[in-house]
Amino acid sequence: MTAKPVLWLPRKVSAATIERARRGYEVILNEADTPGSAEDIVAMSAEADAMMPCHSEVFSADVVARLDSRLKIIANHSVGTDHCDLPALKARGIAVTNTPDVLSDATAEIAMLLMLGAARRAVEGDRLVRTGAWDVWSPSFMVGKQVTGARIGIVGMGRVGQAFAKKARGFDMEVHYYNRTRLPADKEHGATYHATLDSLLPMADFLSLHCPATPDTRHLLNAATLDRLPDGAIVVNTARGALVDEPALMAALRSGKVAAAGLDCFETEPGGNPDFSKFDSVFMLPHIGSATVRTRDAMGFRALDNLDAFFAGRQPRDLL
Ligand code: DGY
Repeated sequence: MTAKPVLWLPRKVSAATIERARRGYEVILNEADTPGSAEDIVAMSAEADAMMPCHSEVFSADVVARLDSRLKIIANHSVGTDHCDLPALKARGIAVTNTPDVLSDATAEIAMLLMLGAARRAVEGDRLVRTGAWDVWSPSFMVGKQVTGARIGIVGMGRVGQAFAKKARGFDMEVHYYNRTRLPADKEHGATYHATLDSLLPMADFLSLHCPATPDTRHLLNAATLDRLPDGAIVVNTARGALVDEPALMAALRSGKVAAAGLDCFETEPGGNPDFSKFDSVFMLPHIGSATVRTRDAMGFRALDNLDAFFAGRQPRDLL
């Protein structure tokens, strides 16, 4: 019997994932569930044939240069791969995969939650009731912005963007989107395509970000682009913190250009940006877009499918 490949799981993935992983691999767990540091990653590359990291493990060019040649594949437990220097990994001959599709609905749900929470003043309302400070009611009390029937601008119409658009249509929203390429008509479902971000922004009473973080998309929401939004727009980000120039968003919130924001992603994670806490109009979550039981299992299983294919000599479905 040939030895099982050694697989390092730097983070605490779901129990079902660990159970299945143990059937096919010699699994090394990080019981402490602390993010794998550069030193951890380099050290484990000499002990493992494969890794299943999350976006919390950073494979920078420097780390990649120091990886041991034993490591053959990084099967990410994430759809995002901005934590991986893909050209450097390719040059080292290390296969990299991700987990598309399986987290689209869970992430779109969180985008809906953030959009609704920001529009209907969930932070203020929750605090009032929770602290016992709710002592008044009036027709002019806690008036928010209605989502139903409003225009939504979606930046990035990949799998998550499309799942979000479907949910937005359930709220009768008028969907506009900007994407590098236009979707085929049967996938547009009546949405209006914008060939540029500049064209989309003035239509976006609500704006939701669903594109990957790359050098090209860094700070795509900045002082100039925020200024193109309609007055009182609402901004939602469930993609990556790097897409938003945070001080520029705060300035827009202060001026009222942006009425409210729903943020699941921040430039610094974990931790977020404490300056956003000064705004009652910002509804925040700690990067939990894909954090449901069903989706965590599906992500782990998709990563294992990729590993199984790789070690069986087949091309993994999600090879990047
Ligand atoms: C992803 O899969 O990219 C999510 O952001 C969680 O890591």
